[in-house]
Amino acid sequence: MSAQKMAIEQPESFVFNAKFSELAKKRIAMYPEGKQASAVVPLLWFAQKQHDNWIPEAALRHIGDMLDMAYIRVLEVVTFYTMFNLAPVGKHFVQFCGTTPCWLNGADKIKDVCESEIGAQNTISDDGEFSWLEVECLGACVNAPMVQINDDFYEDLDEENFRQLLKDLKSGKPTKIGPQVDRINAAPCGGATTLNDKSLFDGSMLGSYKDVLKQIEQAEAEAAAISAKEAKEAEKPAPKKADEKPEASDKKPTKKATKPAKATNSTNTDAENVSDDLKPAMLSAPKGDADDLKVIKGVGPKLEGVLNGLGIYHYSQISVWNDDNIAWVDSKLQFKGRILRDGWVKQAGELAKQGDK
Ligand code: FES
Repeated sequence: MSAQKMAIEQPESFVFNAKFSELAKKRIAMYPEGKQASAVVPLLWFAQKQHDNWIPEAALRHIGDMLDMAYIRVLEVVTFYTMFNLAPVGKHFVQFCGTTPCWLNGADKIKDVCESEIGAQNTISDDGEFSWLEVECLGACVNAPMVQINDDFYEDLDEENFRQLLKDLKSGKPTKIGPQVDRINAAPCGGATTLNDKSLFDGSMLGSYKDVLKQIEQAEAEAAAISAKEAKEAEKPAPKKADEKPEASDKKPTKKATKPAKATNSTNTDAENVSDDLKPAMLSAPKGDADDLKVIKGVGPKLEGVLNGLGIYHYSQISVWNDDNIAWVDSKLQFKGRILRDGWVKQAGELAKQGDK
């Protein structure tokens, strides 16, 4: 919020000159009918530009008339922004940022220079060259401390370069706008410290990029094939006869035709090599109602269909699987290792016990 006061000496009247009158008309025309008041900030800016970098009270009234706004509303706007001056300022108007980042980086020293070289805040130097005002953050905090002089930012200031800057402005010498140290805009001092790898921009990474795309395409094709196969298996109808006996005995398998496939790292080739001797007891149909195998963590509708298709309907069947049985069932699943990872046997044991109660 601006704490500026209006100048005591005011011109009697204000009207836009031809140039700013034209600009004002164009700006007002940008807003829909009835919303012309939205043009108040640009019109205030035009008035300030026309009137030696400050806005007289007559201009506020003139703008209020043009936009059909009450004078007090124009005053509310103009006093909100420090960019508007309500009293004359020096030829070089210094807006000094005293907000935390600038303050932490030495803004107090810049303020000292303002006071010693220009004078008290809001007063114009004897030669009319300078005046200054402390304002809140001007959005160049990375390059703190900084000041705005008329329309330009001067950043990375210290006592010495700021004092020199004021001298140069006074003598009409050209000045360097922006950072006063070795950096471009807000880049790190001394040059960029990131994204320095030229291969990121010169196209030399294109080869490996293509390889990655190829790998992604392959993985997507494989995933689609697996999904299609799972969907097909899930569509297999479950056996309907309810009175058939289990097709396999409860006997523990005694012979292993091949070593059981490792559940977590099996491949399709491993799956084909798992002997049926390791097969757990299966049913050709559920005994009564089939259990809801989806209650077991890791079993979804598709997997339940696969298990039913194999002859597995009840928690009690799963709860007695040994390692060989697990390897055999695992070999029938597309994604290996779920049985052990999700602890199907333990889960099924607990579910079976609950069912028995
Ligand atoms: S704090 Fe000074 S520019 Fe942001």
